[in-house]
Amino acid sequence: MNINLSTNSFNLNKNVNNNKQLNLTTHTPKNNLKFKGIQPNELSRVLDANIDSVLKTNAFDVGARMKFHKVINELLPQIMTPENFINKGRESKVYKISDKYVAKVKRGYDANSAIHFYNFTKLPDKRFNQLDIYYGEPVIRLGNTEILKNATPSKNFICCGTSYRGAKAATIDERAEYDKTFVPLCASIPQESYDKFANGLAELNKIHDMKMNLSKVYYTPDIINPNNILISDNEFKIVDKLDKTKQREPNTLFTMLEPLLIRLSPESYVHYNEELVEPRAKIYKKCLIAATKANLPIENSLTYEYSDYYLGDILKTRKSVSHEDLRKMRLRDEPIENRLDYIENAMK
Ligand SMILES: Nc1ncnc2c1ncn2[C@@H]1O[C@H](COP(=O)(O)OP(=O)(O)OP(=O)(O)O)[C@@H](O)[C@H]1O
Ligand SMILES: [Mg+2]
Repeated sequence: MNINLSTNSFNLNKNVNNNKQLNLTTHTPKNNLKFKGIQPNELSRVLDANIDSVLKTNAFDVGARMKFHKVINELLPQIMTPENFINKGRESKVYKISDKYVAKVKRGYDANSAIHFYNFTKLPDKRFNQLDIYYGEPVIRLGNTEILKNATPSKNFICCGTSYRGAKAATIDERAEYDKTFVPLCASIPQESYDKFANGLAELNKIHDMKMNLSKVYYTPDIINPNNILISDNEFKIVDKLDKTKQREPNTLFTMLEPLLIRLSPESYVHYNEELVEPRAKIYKKCLIAATKANLPIENSLTYEYSDYYLGDILKTRKSVSHEDLRKMRLRDEPIENRLDYIENAMK
């Protein structure tokens, strides 16, 4: 391998598809590069193969990482197309690569500027990617581009709340759409999917890092912004970066209730609607059952200081379970069956 970074270029003996020598220069216009014209179905296959292959390498395999850099850099214009666009947030836009992967590109960058020649292919923390409900941790990071597991392969998904629209409160139309579409859909999701969500949160509670002063850092999804919890193909998926906290077991029953029942956008909460009391009671009960089975804490925290008030407002007399009783039962280590019986009786 002949690497010459001083001229902003490097040559690789091994190519992605064959053994021909490649000569990549970051200043080469992208439309002159060898992947131009690759068919969309081929694109996914070639990218998946390259991503899977670099994921198997270790940190010392510099050649593999440089090869990956070249492939992704050349193919980015074909990934960042309107057809592949999935959704955006405040900081980034997300494009489908394949059923397995997406590319998340920082806002303000296009296909020609998102990756620089000096960026190094990084394979970040693998612990989070092993959680099957979490899709927010990049499997690969390269400059201003991240490759993530694809949370919504069918592109058929709904955010648990309103979509991103800047720092504005939800409009009347958005509220109506949420009531008409989101609430009935969420109520129809099977209990098993709620259980999977709660189990994933319980797993996340076990992950922590130790700081220099020996204090521990735990992780929790940013549920103030509901574009981070999605329903896709009847399953709950978490995206976006996790928040760090010193609080032990930060993922609780409220980590489910807040996005699924209470919050609409960072600035707005749900409204009472008589017709939605029953579907909302279903969502509430499924969350209670799932959180109890996974033995999640029942605690509310300061982060969700208004949650109890809104729960009472939208559920009225259907909010018949005492969180305090459930909390005490958990602390007493009462068998899960007893706690489930308690929920079943209270929610009859
Ligand atoms: N791994 C993923 N798979 C599929 N879609 C994703 C994935 N990550 C993000 N998205 C889509 O992009 C949207 C925005 O993603 P995300 O919340 O991570 O954006 P952001 O710009 O980092 O942050 P913010 O939410 O703070 O605005 C999500 O609501 C989701 O629809
Ligand atoms: Mg987000």
